[in-house]
Amino acid sequence: MLRRTAGATGGVAAARLVACAEQSTTSPDPIGGDPSITPSPLPIPERIFGPLINLEMRPGMRAFLPDRPAPTKGYNGDFLGPTLVLRTGSDVSLNVTNNIGVTTTTHWHGFHVPAVMDGGPHQPIAPGAVWPASFPILNRAATYWYHPHLHAAVGSGVIFDPLSTGYQVYEGLAGMIIVEDATSDALPLPRSYGEDDIPLILQDRRFEDDGTLLHFPSNFNAATDPALRKGGHFLVNGVEAAVLDVGAQVVRLRILNASNARIYNLGFSDNRTFFQVASDGGFLRAPAPLTRLLLSPAERAEILVDLSSDEGATLRLRSFNGGMGTMLVPFPLQDAWDNSNFDLLEITVGATRSNAVLTIPAGLGTVDAIPESEAVNLASPRPFELAANPFGINGKRMDMAVIDQRIRLGDTEVWEITNPTTQAHPFHVHGDSFQILTRDGFPPPENELGWKDVVLVRPSETVRIIKRFHDYADATNPYMFHCHILEHEDVGMMGQFVVEVAP
Ligand code: C2O
Ligand code: CU
Ligand code: CU
Repeated sequence: MLRRTAGATGGVAAARLVACAEQSTTSPDPIGGDPSITPSPLPIPERIFGPLINLEMRPGMRAFLPDRPAPTKGYNGDFLGPTLVLRTGSDVSLNVTNNIGVTTTTHWHGFHVPAVMDGGPHQPIAPGAVWPASFPILNRAATYWYHPHLHAAVGSGVIFDPLSTGYQVYEGLAGMIIVEDATSDALPLPRSYGEDDIPLILQDRRFEDDGTLLHFPSNFNAATDPALRKGGHFLVNGVEAAVLDVGAQVVRLRILNASNARIYNLGFSDNRTFFQVASDGGFLRAPAPLTRLLLSPAERAEILVDLSSDEGATLRLRSFNGGMGTMLVPFPLQDAWDNSNFDLLEITVGATRSNAVLTIPAGLGTVDAIPESEAVNLASPRPFELAANPFGINGKRMDMAVIDQRIRLGDTEVWEITNPTTQAHPFHVHGDSFQILTRDGFPPPENELGWKDVVLVRPSETVRIIKRFHDYADATNPYMFHCHILEHEDVGMMGQFVVEVAP
């Protein structure tokens, strides 16, 4: 029932947000959604570098609302976790200690690793146990992330919530991963972490009156209750109403949508053009000029913002969801913020700092397009239907005991994802990154012509992706494919594939 109040409370906030969106100078929009929150500096997660990384999943406390501390969880801290910095071609060992008191896992989202190192539902970490993961870094330079990845559903849609991915991520278990390689070394991009190369982890939250994070009943039936964890408190790096001070220069923002279900339509308060330079799994060919960037759950985008002539200015990173209508999130699934503009972060521009980058590069290199002719199934792509009734993929829910797809090592395949539902689903595939071939038969926009591991599939849309299944085979341990709206994943909009050596 508490979830039903979203519309009501959202309505009031939406009225305020819409009113403020008309540029009234007397009562500016609150940054983050709640005007009672005092702005504070954007926290920058500390970095941990390979090759040996220790992560402790632990309980914590944080007062998101003044004087109302809430129990949380984090990696090596109270909420969220450190940024892991890894180098392509090197090896990494990660020891993940579970001190949260219930079973969990930790998945390296976007990483091309052996299935047993993936950290998905088949690599549970018991309370008190340590999971030693190790693998070589084969990924391209880009921004990735890590988070728990349990499968909690028992029976047809009943979930034990504390053992769900949605619950554990909402409590704070997530962190960013930055991969660097020779390509990123050579590009004239901002690279001073926290100075001009800024991690931005976007999350929305809802709180109970006592300040604790929104609770679901511990055994809710997700099949009959389409509840999602959304809210009107917008956190960046775990803090609402954050302010980022930067120099008058080009600034690189590494944006991760780590929200359970929220889609953001990002832009700046002055509608300036910015440039996307990287998508989920690598750099684009050239900076893609944009005024809006749609970022669905689990997607990442690195953007450059040219602030070189803005000394003394203040601008906001804003989500322009007001124009989205019901196209991506229809009634009754929509809340007020799916259809209103709201601010996420304030950016204040000071003097140009030393070693500033002052221009947007013209090019970034090449993206080796996977040729369609390389696919073994171009004429009959492997189908994935994201359906609401019955809820799941290809007519079934995730079943830990069922391998849904078997793929031959070394094959390149085309997958065709269809969405007959009335809402958009961000479809994610584990293992190496893929490329988007077409959306409804047409090539995707420029900023999607690169390496991806999540693709938002709109209602009634058909998306074709191409992916290589190489390097690692394991006939018994699967990888996952799923909707990255975490409550959808938890209820069973997920399936499993193995990559195996041809018989
Ligand atoms: Cu972000 Cu299957 O995961
Ligand atoms: Cu993943
Ligand atoms: Cu979904």
